[in-house]
Amino acid sequence: MCGIIGYIGNRQAQSILTNGLRKLEYRGYDSAGIAVSDGTSIAVRKAKGRIDVLEQQLEQSSVQGQLGIGHTRWATHGRPSDENSHPHFDQEGIFSIVHNGIIENYLELKQDLLEQGVSFTSETDTEVIVHLLARAYEGDLVTAVRTVVKQLRGAFALAVMCEHEPDKLVAVRYASPLIIGVGQGENFIASDIPAILEHTRDVFVLDDGDMAILTKDRVSLHSMETDEPVVRELVRIEWDKEQAEKDGYEHYMLKEIYEQPRALRNTLVGRVDERTQKVAFPGLNLTPQAITGIDKIFIVACGTAYHAGLVGKYVIESLTQIPVEVDVASEFRYRRPLVGKNSLTIVVSQSGETADTLAALREAKRRGSTVLAITNVVGSSIAREADDVVATIAGPEIAVASTKAYTSQLLAFYLFAVYLAQEKLALSEQERKQLIQALKQLPEQVENILDNADHIRSFAESIRHEKNLFFIGRGLDYAVALEGSLKLKEISYIHSEAYAAGELKHGTLALIEEGTQVIALVTQAELFEKMISNITEVKARGAHVLGITLEENIELHRSVDEVCLIPATEPLFTPILSVIPLQLISYYTSLALGNDVDRPRNLAKSVTVE
Ligand code: G6P
Repeated sequence: MCGIIGYIGNRQAQSILTNGLRKLEYRGYDSAGIAVSDGTSIAVRKAKGRIDVLEQQLEQSSVQGQLGIGHTRWATHGRPSDENSHPHFDQEGIFSIVHNGIIENYLELKQDLLEQGVSFTSETDTEVIVHLLARAYEGDLVTAVRTVVKQLRGAFALAVMCEHEPDKLVAVRYASPLIIGVGQGENFIASDIPAILEHTRDVFVLDDGDMAILTKDRVSLHSMETDEPVVRELVRIEWDKEQAEKDGYEHYMLKEIYEQPRALRNTLVGRVDERTQKVAFPGLNLTPQAITGIDKIFIVACGTAYHAGLVGKYVIESLTQIPVEVDVASEFRYRRPLVGKNSLTIVVSQSGETADTLAALREAKRRGSTVLAITNVVGSSIAREADDVVATIAGPEIAVASTKAYTSQLLAFYLFAVYLAQEKLALSEQERKQLIQALKQLPEQVENILDNADHIRSFAESIRHEKNLFFIGRGLDYAVALEGSLKLKEISYIHSEAYAAGELKHGTLALIEEGTQVIALVTQAELFEKMISNITEVKARGAHVLGITLEENIELHRSVDEVCLIPATEPLFTPILSVIPLQLISYYTSLALGNDVDRPRNLAKSVTVE
């Protein structure tokens, strides 16, 4: 994935680039670097490690100049090292580039270059690009970039600079996100909006195949293929600056957990028609007639978004009786799914850029399915390629472990499921009103859980030295258990398993011994007694059980060691509430262990490679 930044203007580039990289660190953080031109030559500083390491290097030896590019890396080709860090440069140091994505044919390109006597300094796929540029250059950077890009296969966003042309930066987007920020007498390139938000709110979101040429006073956009100018809408970003920053919280993750009531309220805005008490999706292309024709729904996503999809399946099937399959995107894209023109494929993605989810979307479309995207980034690739978009309005999510995006995705599923049911006339007026009423209460209920969460911190601290944990539940609670377990693994590095409670006895029960920690989700009235039996089974083997249940089920106290209560809502909507304690458990466990909560090892926020 990696993060890219570029600057051209009248100010010194160094701190603009490093500050921008800090906002992109969520995309990868195993090395960082910048290249800055002073008008005659390009200076490169780069180092393995976090941006702090780069900044220490810059304190020893700063770089001067008003034009530059920068990069924060998540290694794909070549281990994290100083040499493999970006920017990369050609043998003479005339060209410098940063790259996000993968060049799939780099081995054959590299072989050709080696045969021509080019020597390489890194193990990256990226380095081939800069050597190709040096060879293609005949006095015009834009022409050279165009020539080289035509030889590349794969996914890439590039920012390029050339010592001989210190009045311009060139950026190219093909299947990796890239935006251009437009300022007064200065312009920017970035992988994502927060990187430039302190300088400008006006951005162009590049499309696949776009090339941007930036001088300090001008941005021109062209098609890479035809060289014709292309027109992209200049989007005004309305986020508050602090919405994209930490706002006094110790970590982004905690801030984002506490932002959930607001994210849910914003996601509800405009989706309930108060007069008719119906769910409304203004601008949706899916007609009521098309809804009646849907015979199957596929939900496809990765990671946390996939877990939101599992809840989505329950809810859609319960309310609409339309069968739903849920797939991990990396499986869906290669399993020849039986998707057809009467299918609706729902892709779910916070970033809207996840490579596997995007590929799954394309596969579904190729097979004739209508595709609806649930995404948090309106200008993203997934949003643009889908036939319809249900936007979650969670604001930027920076912590690698997803929280507010997940609960907003759940809310989007609830709204959409009610909408489908209402359009299919599958709900009575009373049922619909009751569901809508319950949806509107969710933000406040989340707030209540967050306001009374002190005991969760001490539970989290008590489990920090565990080697294994189990999350158990049935039905919707099982779907939430999967998300709770993923959250804990991601940031505490404690192994945990989520199990369908009724399945434990078929093998996994063998792992329960004296003192094993089990978190049991018990929110579904019709499964309450079954869950009590499963809790009894693990307690009989010595497990210590934390039960998460509704306030009205206070008697669960008698069956578990500790209990965490959540307010009552419609049974289908409990996941939005029951996941909150699980998010806090993983946050406080990670904190107690001294881990880097927002940037866990080996992971990245936005996975734009396969
Ligand atoms: C990464 C993130 C996860 C996220 C997944 C899907 O693995 O670390 O938190 O759930 O990607 O991301 P998306 O942006 O498509 O929701």
